[in-house]
Amino acid sequence: MIRTIAKATIGSAAATAIAAASGSVASAADLKYVSGAVGNAVEVFRTLVEPWEQETGHTVSLVPMPASTTDQFGQYRLWLAAGNADIDLYQTDVIWAPQLSEQFIDLNEHAADLAPLHFPSIIESQTVNGKLVALPIFTDAPALYYRMDLLEKHGQEVPSTWEQLTEVARAVQDAERAEGNDSIWGFVWQGNAYEGLTCDALEWVKSFGGGQIVEPDGTISINNENAIAALELASTWPGTISPPGVLAYQEEEARGVWQTGNAVFMRNWPYAYSLGNGDDSAVKGLFDVTTLPTGGGHDTSAATLGGWNVAVSKYSENQEAAISLAKYLASPEAQKVRTLVASNLPTIISLYDDEDIAREQPIIPRWKDVFLQAVPRPSAPTKVKYNEVSAKFWSAVHNTLSGDGTAAENLELLEFELEELKGSGW
Ligand code: GLC
Repeated sequence: MIRTIAKATIGSAAATAIAAASGSVASAADLKYVSGAVGNAVEVFRTLVEPWEQETGHTVSLVPMPASTTDQFGQYRLWLAAGNADIDLYQTDVIWAPQLSEQFIDLNEHAADLAPLHFPSIIESQTVNGKLVALPIFTDAPALYYRMDLLEKHGQEVPSTWEQLTEVARAVQDAERAEGNDSIWGFVWQGNAYEGLTCDALEWVKSFGGGQIVEPDGTISINNENAIAALELASTWPGTISPPGVLAYQEEEARGVWQTGNAVFMRNWPYAYSLGNGDDSAVKGLFDVTTLPTGGGHDTSAATLGGWNVAVSKYSENQEAAISLAKYLASPEAQKVRTLVASNLPTIISLYDDEDIAREQPIIPRWKDVFLQAVPRPSAPTKVKYNEVSAKFWSAVHNTLSGDGTAAENLELLEFELEELKGSGW
């Protein structure tokens, strides 16, 4: 399926793009590209790069990383600190640019024609002190996935607040279990202690009017009544509407429960849309998506901004070929294929008006505004300290969800720790 779509789409337009992206090649290079392998990422990567390999004569192999972005970051840092020349390209999370900028080459001069095709805010997120650290390959903004069939069967509406979601999930779960559907759960999400929990919890806090942990001007805002109320509600979920094991779930564990038909609601990124509609999915055709709920009497929902980019290592000995591949993966043609086969949100503006995409992956045009209004994690104000800030936040949240201290206690302690971190400079 993936290959058929890719062949039909890449066609001659891609050949032109590849020719423009690659320039003339002196000798064939064998590149190494590191990336997390969530969902069908490995297969999608192969499909995307084959035409580039044929056109340029270079080859590239994917070095798969753990699914957790937190684990990837740790590994990347070690390789880069050691000046590893074996890895040519790194697939990088949207939050990493300020922390890894020294280790990658400046792509500004190479992407002068390509950069203006992307949303300016995304290019900006990958620009550190004027240096274009990475080229965007897709962006991310989560959805609330819900089972249309189960809501209809039990006479329930799609919830628009977290409080309603808690009630509806409970009602449908109870009714299904009473009929003998013992494995059903109300709501699955990302509760493991890692970057994904920072994303989920930022959405609860922000939608309850509790701010963004650290505000764009550097103010530490997390210790407030609204944030406490958000975490108090979320801490009622594990073991009631969510499996107790949700405290160890990342994206793929949540998708596993959802896609086998065992959840009424799921919070996940758009990649789960095409996989959920795949032939091997038990929920194919049975679900839809909506924006994440609002909460605590506030009326703005919040979606955390995610997304992935490609950076060229300054230690690579194949820079020309690596730049060519980075440009190709960020090009409109490659992004279109990625969107068609993996329902990743493109960063190329025009693809939101593309008819093939609207037909094959209707979530994409619907999600343009969600992505444009998505809330960034505080990586810009906390710069090189972002990873520590995030780790302290997800730990405070994970403790609260596990019943280890109250939300009020954990957020007070978090505020103190963040003040200390800020005091040592960020
Ligand atoms: C998705 C997002 C990424 C985020 C990660 C957290 O991959 O695109 O930005 O950090 O999820 O698990």
